[in-house]
Amino acid sequence: MQKAIQVTQYGGPEVLKLQETKVEKPGSGQALVRVQAAGINFIDIYQRRGTYPVQLPFIPGLEGSGIVEAVGEGVKNVKPGDRVAYVHEPGSYAEQNLVVADHLIPLPAELSFEQGAAFPLQGMTAQYLLHEFRKVKANDVVLIHAAAGGVGLLLVQWAKHLGAKVLGTTSTEEKAKIAKEAGADEVILYTKQDFPTEVKRLTNGHGADLIIDGVGKTTFPGNLQAAALRGNIVIFGSSSGPADPISPNVLMGRSLTLSGGSLFNFILTNEELMARAKAVMEGIKQGWLKLRIDQVFPLEKAAEAQKKLEERKTSGKVLLAPNNKAK
Ligand SMILES: NC(=O)c1ccc[n+]([C@@H]2O[C@H](COP(=O)([O-])OP(=O)(O)OC[C@H]3O[C@@H](n4cnc5c(N)ncnc54)[C@H](OP(=O)(O)O)[C@@H]3O)[C@@H](O)[C@H]2O)c1
Repeated sequence: MQKAIQVTQYGGPEVLKLQETKVEKPGSGQALVRVQAAGINFIDIYQRRGTYPVQLPFIPGLEGSGIVEAVGEGVKNVKPGDRVAYVHEPGSYAEQNLVVADHLIPLPAELSFEQGAAFPLQGMTAQYLLHEFRKVKANDVVLIHAAAGGVGLLLVQWAKHLGAKVLGTTSTEEKAKIAKEAGADEVILYTKQDFPTEVKRLTNGHGADLIIDGVGKTTFPGNLQAAALRGNIVIFGSSSGPADPISPNVLMGRSLTLSGGSLFNFILTNEELMARAKAVMEGIKQGWLKLRIDQVFPLEKAAEAQKKLEERKTSGKVLLAPNNKAK
């Protein structure tokens, strides 16, 4: 038996309950990981609310890091005792997590377990968003919404590394400061200012060549005005709610491209997963990509941790430490 957070009905943070659950032995192609750190992501909130339905009951958490305890038949890429990170596996809000071994990323000695649980989902998302839709060139204007968030801060640093002029949006001055420290050239307070007007002003009327939007409902209409001629808009989340429908004809006048992104479509094979993970880990090792850990909570405080994220009170990554030490 182990301690794990279980959701037996959809709802608010209060449905996240600490319970004793059974641990299965790893089957063929599986590994059992003792979880040292579990990454909290906004998708966990959509799943808890039932916005993205998951079969009940379930243990939340799609990302973690830890030590391999046991492996099933046919597993060759890891062995007991190995340090690993992983994403796209349900159930990391727990002391132990049974995962598909092919989804494991060997964790280099120089990365802590905290870093191991902080980089996979948000880091690889930043990587595909900046490489799969528009090839960002030096001096391209890239607009990043919620620029002080988990994905946002990584996007800011990566877009800057590619030589872009980076504009960010945040809700508060405090978050704007954090986004600027991460490298944003300008930050717009989209709760107080009209961001399309500001984008046009800050770029001498040019607009944003690439807009990366994980906020959705409140930002999407403005994106269409803030985009440059032949600009790209990528929608990859809806932290403020799903964006309202539009007619595709609105894209014609200024030849805009609208795309949608989901990380899970960009890590389809072990090779693809490892290539993206390697790109993120290289950035961390070289020092131009920094992971900002907002807070590490004990497992039993999962509800508090998710509440902080959904109430916009975090900047960077929120983690759980199911075995009480995440380092
Ligand atoms: N499709 C993919 O591949 C993929 C992968 C990872 C994440 N995502 C999405 O990317 C987005 C960011 O994820 P994250 O985990 O890094 O979260 P996050 O950005 O750390 O947190 C969400 C941020 O959204 C902003 N926001 C604006 N309106 C909001 C509202 N009404 N309620 C809550 N937040 C609001 C807040 O920043 P301000 O206070 O500055 O406004 C908040 O901090 C989420 O939508 C997530 O689902 C998508």
